Amino acid sequence: MIKKGIILAGGRGTRMSPLTKAINKQLLPIFDKPLIFYPLSILMLSKIKDILIIVNKGELSQYKKIIPSGKNLGIKITYAEQSEPRGLPDAFIIGEKFIGSDNVALILGDNFFYGQNLTTQLLNYKKLKKGAKIILHKVKKPDQYGVAKINKKYKVTHIKEKPKKFISDLAITGLYFFDNLVCKYSKLLKPSKRGELEIVDLINKYKKKGNLKASLLGRGGAWLDTGSIDDFYKTSAFVSAIEKRQGLKVACIEEIALSNGWINKREINNQIKFYGKCEYSEYLKNLIITKK
Ligand code: G1P
Repeated sequence: MIKKGIILAGGRGTRMSPLTKAINKQLLPIFDKPLIFYPLSILMLSKIKDILIIVNKGELSQYKKIIPSGKNLGIKITYAEQSEPRGLPDAFIIGEKFIGSDNVALILGDNFFYGQNLTTQLLNYKKLKKGAKIILHKVKKPDQYGVAKINKKYKVTHIKEKPKKFISDLAITGLYFFDNLVCKYSKLLKPSKRGELEIVDLINKYKKKGNLKASLLGRGGAWLDTGSIDDFYKTSAFVSAIEKRQGLKVACIEEIALSNGWINKREINNQIKFYGKCEYSEYLKNLIITKK
């Protein structure tokens, strides 16, 4: 069972400059809330309450303005700083003390997931006891991601980061589940040609030991990009369409905490005061009016 989760919210977001010159990408809006709420909501839907957020050095105060603590969400938030981008597995080196003797989930701060059966799937993934689990999703442009080839028995036969030659159209999404060996394996990795530790090299270590499993998000699930300005608009339009149609918010972290039974009216009222008079607070007010 996985009890701890890490959100890697570093990166310079250079593809989105000048927007990211003063503000970290994960604090920019996806429709009506900062991007960071979406990966945080995924960990919360997985019922993971102990969360480490890794941010760039010097950007901690920005994050603390929007998520000062996990208190009003009924969760524990720890922050750590990354002095320079050293690749995704660096999360397990920075997070070694936080992870302790537990298994851990990692979600990239810019990954967006949505789907009907998502919560059920997440609760299954977090049952992982041994080995690693990657979540795959079919994409049109696999050369932009880490990809995995699987056989009929869902066994991963090949993985490669941003392959130039077609291997498979299954991208490795930015949500990973690892056993406690992840810290040890991450420390054994050598930087790649681009000077970073690569997540595919880490996953390969599990594959070589026969301890790698893969699951498909499935065609009813959405995994959207937030890599470019255009992606931000498209993902925002997606969230806006769903929220306006249903009157339900995607990734309302207080709503998830409330439905998980982690908080009650008091914490919601604290959050309403914290956010101030805005549409998001109105939504929160309705949550506690309808919940008698
Ligand atoms: C990273 C990983 C890649 C993965 C992707 C998911 O790529 O290296 O394997 O498919 O995240 O978002 P990056 O976004 O750093 O190019």
